[in-house]
Amino acid sequence: MRIGVLTGGGDCPGLNAVIRAVVRKGVGVYGHEFVGFRDGWRGPLYGDTMPLTVAAVRGILPRGGTILGSSRTNPFKEPDGVQRVRGSLAENGVDALIAIGGEDTLGVAKRLYDEQVPVVGVPKTIDNDLGATDYTFGFDTAVGIAMEAIDRLHTTAESHHRALVVEVMGRHAGWIALHAGLAGGANVILVPERPFRIDEVAAYVERRFETKYACIVVVAEGATPAEGDMGLQTGELDAFGHVRLGGVGQRLAEEIEARTGKEARVVVLGHIQRGGTPTAFDRVLATRFGLHAIDAVHERDWGVMVALRGTDIVRVPLAEATRELKTVPDHRLAEAEVFFG
Ligand code: F6P
Repeated sequence: MRIGVLTGGGDCPGLNAVIRAVVRKGVGVYGHEFVGFRDGWRGPLYGDTMPLTVAAVRGILPRGGTILGSSRTNPFKEPDGVQRVRGSLAENGVDALIAIGGEDTLGVAKRLYDEQVPVVGVPKTIDNDLGATDYTFGFDTAVGIAMEAIDRLHTTAESHHRALVVEVMGRHAGWIALHAGLAGGANVILVPERPFRIDEVAAYVERRFETKYACIVVVAEGATPAEGDMGLQTGELDAFGHVRLGGVGQRLAEEIEARTGKEARVVVLGHIQRGGTPTAFDRVLATRFGLHAIDAVHERDWGVMVALRGTDIVRVPLAEATRELKTVPDHRLAEAEVFFG
């Protein structure tokens, strides 16, 4: 078989580990050939390819980013998008596709599968919000980076008697905020799943300062105040209709300062959380996903996504994986609340 591989959506540490595993097992064990499509769905849409041989994937296991490039291109938003994708698969002699991505990339994969395109999905996102898999690779790395930042911020916050607000990624799900906040000993964790009350946050900050320790507030970029919109969105939409966020951390720091009289500063971790080398956990998970994805292709088991269930890698229908986002349940937030204030 000749198999196309693409990586779509926000990049994520571990993408290269998946590509390497797919190619190494695909060539070495099954004798398949590969072609890389550049920049997510933009690759098949414009016929933009690159060679994907064993030599091309040597040495990429620890490298962050993706050697294939990525984009948020949505072929269903383009005139004749599906026909163009089909056309470039045919032109390149591609029999099947492996799409590595999050809800948007895999949503496209699912729709293409519905139109008889042979495709297998691999879940990726630092947000860990894909349904049907216990964890996605990239999440552990992002949490580790955020935790290290929080550790460092504790000491400088103490020296200056400041409240420090750490804004982490997470548009619709607060997994990074929850895990990094728990691991880093944050005094308040705010997630998109539960609108926050500014008065309550200010009260936690004051209580923390009473203990003579400074306060660390971790806020997910998609968290919103219960009182209503604080004007946090830029209004721009991407090809999948997501609003670009930004500013909740800054606004929160201003409100905390105004309400408590304590100096408050914000640190926005942003894309640092997605950059650089993956952790051992993410390298292993990504590698296992890659090995199982090429097995699914070899067996012509189309329309599935590989997923982690407990410690096993299983296959689930793409439809199930993309049905709904996995958000933080109340009982997980309640565990963190014990440490608030
Ligand atoms: O989906 C992954 C993610 O990193 C989100 O956490 C974040 O909201 C978004 O991508 C940022 O997107 P961009 O790279 O387009 O700024």
